[in-house]
Amino acid sequence: MAGVEERTFIAIKPDGVQRRLVGEIIKRFEQKGFKLVGMKFLHASEDLLKEHYIDLKDRPFYAGLVNYMNSGPVVAMVWEGFNVVKTGRVMLGETNPADSKPGTIRGDYCIQVSRNIIHGSDSVENANTEINLWFQPEELVSYENCSDSWIYG
Ligand code: RTP
Ligand code: MG
Repeated sequence: MAGVEERTFIAIKPDGVQRRLVGEIIKRFEQKGFKLVGMKFLHASEDLLKEHYIDLKDRPFYAGLVNYMNSGPVVAMVWEGFNVVKTGRVMLGETNPADSKPGTIRGDYCIQVSRNIIHGSDSVENANTEINLWFQPEELVSYENCSDSWIYG
């Protein structure tokens, strides 16, 4: 089926890790039917984070955002599946948790935009850029998942 190999970059931010939400967040992507193809736990460098959020460099919150993301370890992941970029964003909720519906990750687990626990790529193009920034090609794993034929018909 066309499009099932689309990939997105998802990161559990330092507050998500500190608040012990790693398992809950991974569970949602797994149970939706998306396939995990890359994952690592790291304290990201300031340089990496500045580059990751380079599009926001002129915004007043940029320095605070880089500081926040650099305040502890994060879980960096690549998830694969049909429409995963767009659906991933729907699962995350709005940037501001106050605008996020219950049932979304930000709607269920956080309150403020400056502590919104998770990142998700906002386009296929940006997903590819972010995946290349955070992962080496050999860190991404292609494999058959035995449940694929029960998820895609
Ligand atoms: P993300 O990139 O982290 O998935 O978030 P997003 O696309 O929903 O929102 P974006 O505009 O890319 O903003 C990136 C992150 O910056 C922080 N932010 N703080 N203080 C503020 O007004 C403000 N606005 C944005 C949030 O952590 C947001 O997720
Ligand atoms: Mg963004």
